[in-house]
Amino acid sequence: MSEQSRSGRWMDESAFEELRFDYMQIRGVYQAAIREIDARLKTLDSEFSYRHRHNPIHHIESRVKSLPSIVKKLRSLGIPVSIINAKKNLHDIAGVRVVCRYVDDIYRIANLLLSQDDVLLIQEKDYIKNPKENGYRSLHIVVDVPVYMIEGRLFTPVEIQIRTVAMDFWATLEHGIRYKASEEVPDSIVHELRECADVITDTDYRMQRIFKALQMVHDREEEEEAEIEPDGRP
Ligand code: GTP
Ligand code: MG
Repeated sequence: MSEQSRSGRWMDESAFEELRFDYMQIRGVYQAAIREIDARLKTLDSEFSYRHRHNPIHHIESRVKSLPSIVKKLRSLGIPVSIINAKKNLHDIAGVRVVCRYVDDIYRIANLLLSQDDVLLIQEKDYIKNPKENGYRSLHIVVDVPVYMIEGRLFTPVEIQIRTVAMDFWATLEHGIRYKASEEVPDSIVHELRECADVITDTDYRMQRIFKALQMVHDREEEEEAEIEPDGRP
């Protein structure tokens, strides 16, 4: 593979090797930060499930940004390519996507994670309260989380995108459509995607209402069962 395809543009071979060496060193730290967030989220999910018989998290995805993507992004921002500049300027080298069942679960999970005193909120973008023009919805938070490496504790930023299964369905397909389109997506398609997002949003809230209604019925049944004396008389 040529240095051109690996770095996105011709780069002096020794400079590229140095970049790759630096990348491999920081990659481990970002991987550790992802593991840390992943473990905390899973702990919260299982405790929530034990207490409320409901798993807020459907699944979790994660990735460390690849070196070619880092190079591409720094170039698009007009920043000289180096790992130091990547660490300073890119908040999404470590990325975690948390796919929840219902809209309320998103805020539940975000608040529980942010209430941990060593998880520091760096940035928040609420594309649920303020969806993007194209209909994109998700809660984005960037947090600093401590990781313990040989040299000690390093607070490391992780971008966490939290969304419902429905929001994820739309975002995944929209991303595929945009990625495939050789040119800018025409206005009519953007408009139609927005309409699809609105339908999905409506369905998301309907499903949540159904879930809550059934949960209330179930809770009432349990209360009634608890009130019945062991001999069967109320
Ligand atoms: P990036 O340079 O893409 O990281 O954008 P940003 O720094 O302005 O941050 P933002 O919070 O807007 O977006 C971060 C990430 O959210 C993106 O890399 C995507 O993964 C996701 N995202 C944002 N907007 C859209 C969208 O319109 N469609 C889809 N499918 N994903 C989006
Ligand atoms: Mg990004």
